[in-house]
Amino acid sequence: MTIWYGGDYNPEQWPREVWDEDVTLMQRGGITLATVGVFSWARLEPRPGEYDFAWLDDVLDTLHDGGIRVDLATATASPPPWLAKRHPETLPVTEQGVRLAVGSRQQYCPSSPVYRERARQLVTRLVERYAQHPALELWHVNNEYGCHVSHCYCEVSAAAFRTWLEAKYGSIDGLNRAWGTAFWSQRYDGFDEVEPPRAAPSFRNPTQLLDFDRFSSDELLACYRSEVEVIRAASEMPVTTNFMGFFKPVDYWKWAREVDLVSDDTYPDPADPISVPYAAMVRDLMRSLGDGAPWILMEQSPGAVNWRPQNAAKAPGQMRAWSYQAVGRGADGILFFQWRQSAAGSEKFHSGMVPHGGTDTRVWREIEQLGGELQRLSGPEVGLEGSRVPTQVAIALDWDSWWAVEQPASPTSVSYLETLFAWHHALTSLGLTVDFVRADADLSGYRLVVAPTHFVATDAQLENLAAFAEAGGTLVVGFGTGITDEHLHVRLGGYLGEPLRRTLGVWIEEFAPPAAPDLRAVGGGAAPPVALDGDVLGGAASGAVWAEYVRVEDAATEATFAEGALAGWPAVTRRGAAGGGGAAWYVATLPEAEALGRLVTRIVDEAGIELPSSVAHGGRVEVVRRGGLVFAINHGADEVELVVEGTDLLTGSGAAGLVLPSQGVAVVRPE
Ligand code: GAL
Ligand code: ZN
Repeated sequence: MTIWYGGDYNPEQWPREVWDEDVTLMQRGGITLATVGVFSWARLEPRPGEYDFAWLDDVLDTLHDGGIRVDLATATASPPPWLAKRHPETLPVTEQGVRLAVGSRQQYCPSSPVYRERARQLVTRLVERYAQHPALELWHVNNEYGCHVSHCYCEVSAAAFRTWLEAKYGSIDGLNRAWGTAFWSQRYDGFDEVEPPRAAPSFRNPTQLLDFDRFSSDELLACYRSEVEVIRAASEMPVTTNFMGFFKPVDYWKWAREVDLVSDDTYPDPADPISVPYAAMVRDLMRSLGDGAPWILMEQSPGAVNWRPQNAAKAPGQMRAWSYQAVGRGADGILFFQWRQSAAGSEKFHSGMVPHGGTDTRVWREIEQLGGELQRLSGPEVGLEGSRVPTQVAIALDWDSWWAVEQPASPTSVSYLETLFAWHHALTSLGLTVDFVRADADLSGYRLVVAPTHFVATDAQLENLAAFAEAGGTLVVGFGTGITDEHLHVRLGGYLGEPLRRTLGVWIEEFAPPAAPDLRAVGGGAAPPVALDGDVLGGAASGAVWAEYVRVEDAATEATFAEGALAGWPAVTRRGAAGGGGAAWYVATLPEAEALGRLVTRIVDEAGIELPSSVAHGGRVEVVRRGGLVFAINHGADEVELVVEGTDLLTGSGAAGLVLPSQGVAVVRPE
């Protein structure tokens, strides 16, 4: 076993003699795994039914001879132009009715039986030919499902949507009830009248939108399954498909059960100051999707990307520092897009491990350095790969809630992800590592669970969260939770839902979000904050996004709204659980970062969660524990001194007092 190191390898862009040099360089760089064939369909099947595998045989053999393992892609991510030429109906259609064209990539309708069948034929051939190839380590199905085309509104998709709805509701009456079509004259007389939620005069039916989001995620999953079935019939090798962090269109909880290994593509923006904590949240998600098992960073960029309006280069050492963030948070592999930077095509200005400038370059030297280090960190003596990241804290994550809370015609504009991030960041700033969980998962392994904005909640989810607190856990519930059931029908009689109302000792009477931003203001204007007050927030503070009238039945008010009509109404409440130990908090707004930090400190402290103390963790130093090791990463601009007892495995030096330069990393085995 090893910590995998490598990247997307697209040798079909280069003449044959380059391939030998590639392998030599890979060996020099410590590369152990190459992802091959991701966009090779047009080369593998130049004409329908005519396959050309000779070049791929050569690639795999060459890699194998060089000792490089292969993550073999199924090549179905971008159909060749001939598919659209013969079957124009395989091209996807937008909600405005625009049919997308060939000449880019991913131009297929996920529901298209023609696309799926062609893809299966290709995968069948690939599996026949390479299942026993000695270089094969992993199957890489398709690529970034839904990345460019997640929802398709064509006639083929419409028919598939109807079938999906019929299976779900059984009868058109069931659909009419669930969708609330009694309003706005939307009653359907039969499934044949139902369409995807295409561009419409005003708000589209909310439950139709939500079901279409669910359907679209399921259709992509069906594409994945159809390929995996072919692979599993003839190969024992593990299967993955690369996820994209917090990717709204695809419900990764559903998908994660069907991959043998979670893998992720993440491209944090070096120019964005929140990239580091945000990427930490993404890594925590990837670990959580696999129930804590190691995952692989399948793609990151060695330097700049080319798809932002401005493409910042990574600072010296930043690629390495961010890679260790992933390893510290559970990754057993660090891979890149792509091996050799393209000379032509849409991604020629996207960095590669071997840059345009060749190997006498900063990027290559950093690639080589990290490769060498990961080799030294691999192996049973170190005990890194396969090891787990201990956590006591979890955040509930739910795609239905994400889809629904961001729909139009809602109380206010909430960014689901920003809300989650605010909580995650507050917790990680204390040095804690955080898992993500489904609200109906077994929560008994955690001491603290936060459910920020769990907008769409099933009865089972509400019961599960409540039961966690009743059993002695500490539960924190954020605004916008338990507002509707799974059909987007509002829970009547006071928002929150019965189980949480009991456990939290509060209910919500009315939403009163802060005024909208003043769009005439110079610079666009930010939404005015809501004033808050309470010791638990550090005194006077502000909140944003949401505010509401909270009715207390059986809880202590820990902070209040402080101005305007809401003045004096509860903003943060706490109810100690009857059985002792646990507590149930309700937070009716999004407190500003500093106040949220104070609140979280109090909650964590009260929950008896010990904060890591062996290492100075303030400022921009990220500290994570994995297995028996401590990862310390200095993301700041200034050097820092760390207090840690142990040996830094990267330098071999004893580390009572370690000095970490900017972007410096230590992997410490404590004494
Ligand atoms: C990913 C994709 C890669 C490459 C990369 C560039 O979304 O999977 O093929 O395009 O972005 O950053
Ligand atoms: Zn379609």
